[in-house]
Amino acid sequence: MAEETSKVAMEKIVSLCKRRGFIFPSSEIYGGLSSCWDYGPVGVELKRNIKDNWWRAVVQERDDVVGIESSILMNPQVWVASGHVDSFTDPLVECKVCHLRWRATELNSNKCPECSGELTEPRLFNLMFKTFMGPVEEESSVTYLRPETAQGMFVNFDNVLGASRRKLPFGIAQIGKAFRNEITPGNFVFRTREFEQMEIEYFVKPGTDDYWLDYWVKERFNWYINLGIRKENLRLRQHGKDERAHYAEDCYDVEYLFPMGWAELEGIANRGDFDLVQHAKHSGKSLIYFDEETGERFVPYIIEPSAGVDRSALAFLIDAYDEEMAEGELRTVLHLHPALAPIKVAVLPLSRNEKLVPLAKQIYTHLRRSFMTQYDDAQSIGRRYRRQDEIGTPFCVTIDFESLEDNQVTIRERDSMAQIRVPISELDKILQAKLKGEAFDTQPLWAVRQK
Ligand code: GLY
Repeated sequence: MAEETSKVAMEKIVSLCKRRGFIFPSSEIYGGLSSCWDYGPVGVELKRNIKDNWWRAVVQERDDVVGIESSILMNPQVWVASGHVDSFTDPLVECKVCHLRWRATELNSNKCPECSGELTEPRLFNLMFKTFMGPVEEESSVTYLRPETAQGMFVNFDNVLGASRRKLPFGIAQIGKAFRNEITPGNFVFRTREFEQMEIEYFVKPGTDDYWLDYWVKERFNWYINLGIRKENLRLRQHGKDERAHYAEDCYDVEYLFPMGWAELEGIANRGDFDLVQHAKHSGKSLIYFDEETGERFVPYIIEPSAGVDRSALAFLIDAYDEEMAEGELRTVLHLHPALAPIKVAVLPLSRNEKLVPLAKQIYTHLRRSFMTQYDDAQSIGRRYRRQDEIGTPFCVTIDFESLEDNQVTIRERDSMAQIRVPISELDKILQAKLKGEAFDTQPLWAVRQK
């Protein structure tokens, strides 16, 4: 039976991303750098929107989670305590003929997938990027680029608890870059050596960990649905005992149906008391929690929802991508949820007429105070609509000659392509309502998908 894959080919997404300024190959004029990517003008907006919506859901709208931003470089003892120096490894095999390297766990046979050559015995390869602090490159100055943001939160457990006067259960959230020297990166921004994480470390009383694991699995699964990912393209998968990370007692993946098949979008792990016990042991500092209500002392368990910003961006792009016939032409459109759309409104004068342009610019200057707005007067109106469709702009505002007479403009909706005429004085208010999913004759696609 053929493996299940998404209906959209990755090449189409890569091509759109380059053409429209979502994602470019890194250092492209030098031939690029394997698996490194740069986010362009609309890509960076998409990423910011993903991060802002995550932060809003897990910090702003909750009273039990606070945020931090810890440094990427940490005391190297952190990585000894965390188990990463000893255990954060992949089994590496090399082809004796073509010398390509592979992750042994990804191979179906003991032959090289490229040339069928014989492979070496597996050796363990540590995925952490090693570097040196200061001018001397010696063992005592070794440090690492963090392979997860999580450790910055564990080592700050006591600081945050004291400063924010929290009681269990409570969580710390962080967004930041992490680095892994992957043997086989690939699939565009799905697996890269430098990537951005959105992680929560949620500290709970032992014995309540199963409840909270279940709670966070549901919470995080629904976050993707609420931002427009189709239910049929998401699933949950519990890790088998043999695939759990060295710290995990239990783990679920939220998986998305990518072009290469089902793959992890977010992992939600029960890390038990592993991390705090290890850090207490290695640092000599007590990380025991005192429960004032019961008088009990214990080391909290940790539930960790760990999501990738780049993977989420890729999934949102793939899920939103559509090609459809419109007015006798093939239109490529991103049906992105408006909360994620890089540009919310495009302002388009019908032509570069000397009376239309000043009015359009006036409207643009006003609207951009409220929304990420783009002004465009180059080429035909049809081509400009197509450009906005391709970057997922939910609304275009068109200023025509009648606007000069009746002070009204046209709002064109991306998904339905319906056009409505509204007074300029009401424009801001109507767009605000539509961006919230209100004031539609027929429900927009993102609202339908959430049902
Ligand atoms: N903190 C879990 C992970 O990075 O996979």
